[in-house]
Amino acid sequence: MEKEKLQALLHDMSLEEKIMQLVQLPGQTFEESAALTGLADMDKAGKMKTLAGSVLGLHGADKIKEIQKTYMDNHPHNIPLLFMLDVIHGHDTVFPCPLAQGATFDPEVAEKGAAVQAKEASADGVQVTFSPMADLVRDARWGRVVESTGEDPYLNGLMTAAMVRGYQGSDIKDKDHVAACVKHFAAYGAAEAGRDYNTCEISEHTLRDQYLQGYRAPIAQGARLVMTSFNTLNGVPSSGNKWLMRDILRDEMGFEGVLISDWGAIMEMVNWGFAEDLKAAAAMAMEAGVDIDMCTEAYSDNLEALVKEGKLKEDLLDEAVMRVLELKNDLGLFEDPYHGASEERYKEITLSKESRDLARDAVRKSLVLLENKNGVLPLNSKKIALIGPYVDEKKTHSAWAITCNDDNNITMRMAFEEEFAGSDVQVKYANGCTLVDNDCDLGFMKFHSDTFEEDNEKLLAEALEVSDECDTIIMCLGESLMQSGESTSRADIRLPKVQRDLYNKVKEKGKKLITLIFTGRPLDLEDIPQTSDALMIVWRPGTESGHGITDVLTGKFSPQGKLSMSFPWLVGQEPLYYNRFNTGRPKPAEGNTIFTSRYLDCPNEARYPFGYGLTYSDFEISKVKLSSDKMHKHDCGTTLDKNRKSDCNLNETIKALVTVKNTGSVAATQTLQLYIRDMAGSTVRPIKELKGFKKVSLQAGESAEVSFEITEEMLRFWTASNKFESEPGKFKVFIGFDSATDNEAEFELI
Ligand code: NOJ
Repeated sequence: MEKEKLQALLHDMSLEEKIMQLVQLPGQTFEESAALTGLADMDKAGKMKTLAGSVLGLHGADKIKEIQKTYMDNHPHNIPLLFMLDVIHGHDTVFPCPLAQGATFDPEVAEKGAAVQAKEASADGVQVTFSPMADLVRDARWGRVVESTGEDPYLNGLMTAAMVRGYQGSDIKDKDHVAACVKHFAAYGAAEAGRDYNTCEISEHTLRDQYLQGYRAPIAQGARLVMTSFNTLNGVPSSGNKWLMRDILRDEMGFEGVLISDWGAIMEMVNWGFAEDLKAAAAMAMEAGVDIDMCTEAYSDNLEALVKEGKLKEDLLDEAVMRVLELKNDLGLFEDPYHGASEERYKEITLSKESRDLARDAVRKSLVLLENKNGVLPLNSKKIALIGPYVDEKKTHSAWAITCNDDNNITMRMAFEEEFAGSDVQVKYANGCTLVDNDCDLGFMKFHSDTFEEDNEKLLAEALEVSDECDTIIMCLGESLMQSGESTSRADIRLPKVQRDLYNKVKEKGKKLITLIFTGRPLDLEDIPQTSDALMIVWRPGTESGHGITDVLTGKFSPQGKLSMSFPWLVGQEPLYYNRFNTGRPKPAEGNTIFTSRYLDCPNEARYPFGYGLTYSDFEISKVKLSSDKMHKHDCGTTLDKNRKSDCNLNETIKALVTVKNTGSVAATQTLQLYIRDMAGSTVRPIKELKGFKKVSLQAGESAEVSFEITEEMLRFWTASNKFESEPGKFKVFIGFDSATDNEAEFELI
């Protein structure tokens, strides 16, 4: 529909009709079995159903078509309903969780995965996905780190922009694509003490320099929606934060799409003690520019009165409605209200071989090898035991793959049976213990078994028996699916006790021990790294779990994943991130450490830092060579946030060069990482910041030169003058295999 026609439609709509475009209903209003993503209970009388603009949680092509038809027939202007759903890392074909996708350091993996998700979801009736989550995460206690691509804003930006490309394609009207929603604006990942929905207190400097960075790239990529966050930011809940939403998001970042609240977030401003009542909350959210109220009655019950009392300008309301109508129009819903929904097409494309192959490839690329002593991997044993609750566990996705049918997931046992069928390799299996401890709180439920002790004794006995019959044990351990995701903060980030007990008993058998950890967050791994011969983080891998992991264990695919979040020694180090400040009293590597910034009982550094991950080979890297030790800066006055792309091509660049050699005996892929440190700034600068990375695949004995171009733009930050700009002075350049590298060179910006 042309813009003028949309305008005419808007002018023809009643006030009630307009308001209802801004109201989103939970799917349960239409269908009891809708995907449950929140606890609201709306529209008991069923009145809103005829006018609400969008619905959350429904999928199923025929069902959606029927709902859409009935809705449009009853709507005074036959405006189509908009169907939204959380498709986060898979609809049917489930890809590794976003934290694992971050560990691939490969935006193409994220883009291709998102394209598959969009295709399956769209055929199943979904038009908007609430993804990607671009929140910067630094605290492993926060369960939602599983939904983020990690602790680095640059990596987050690249990965989430790639997801937007995959979801939206070049035109959201295309039936194979859906509109993407960047969330949760802003700084939701900074929840105090890692407790979900908690307060965030961040200086403007850290907010702009670190926390806002990850949202910029997916927004610049053209994501059609943004979602507000639940948290307060420096005392102001996001859904009522006009400065954040209008000045920063719209004016500075140039976002023109639909801003939707998170579930109930407008209403929650009352609980926060920011709005006196729901009516005040609705007024604040409208002022802040929140277009859609997700699943509360804040807008439906109050906007009419606010307009009639002159407390809300109808123009403001019209702007919001227009944005919703434009989104519907751009999706092509006025011409084809069903978009891609088609039972036949859904059946034809879902879980296709091609999609499963992509998911398998994503799993292989996301696995992070943390230990491999004496070359225990790749596997070379003929007598293997697979032990642990993840041997047969089908729930290998995350809680945010809400439409995943875990019957489709490939377990470790399934993959091993397939791999070694008909070979001379003997494999024995034992579950060893329950997945979680008795009476463990899993959010929706508490796990309880009256026969917990007896069951675990029996499971342990079986595990010890198969341990005796092999020479290599693969322990399959990890968190439960319900232990990461929304509202799953943990103050103890160790494996469940029942699994630790199993590990300790099996370890005593003295066999070669390979440990796999299924997890949605960094964990305190206690003595597993020292006592296992090999240790691999396999995250929440999804549909192709067993296949992808087996490909790497057997050496068919060489491991290349790098940690997207630092793994701590102890939970007490959290929040823990590599791009921290130095402090005025940095702890020296050696010598007297008293009165320096440190713990008495734990290192400062991560146990495994961001960017870390082994391959099956060894690599050497030369010293960093720079093409010049000076960079001359031309003052082009480039400071506007929305124009952060380099708008001054007079600036010089420096080439940073290393030679990297595969010194081992097998071909492998290494990820070279470029970090920069600004040695002195008008506000202090992190000890390192990732500015680039490149993957290099080398045969045994082969070497290659790898170079990075350092631009003036890479040196910019939010300075004391409240601008993004670079400041003259010295910079260190690091190129290495992880964020702890000390392979450095120096140059000066003049
Ligand atoms: C609440 C979550 O915070 C958000 O990420 C999600 O998209 C909505 N619920 C809708 O399910």
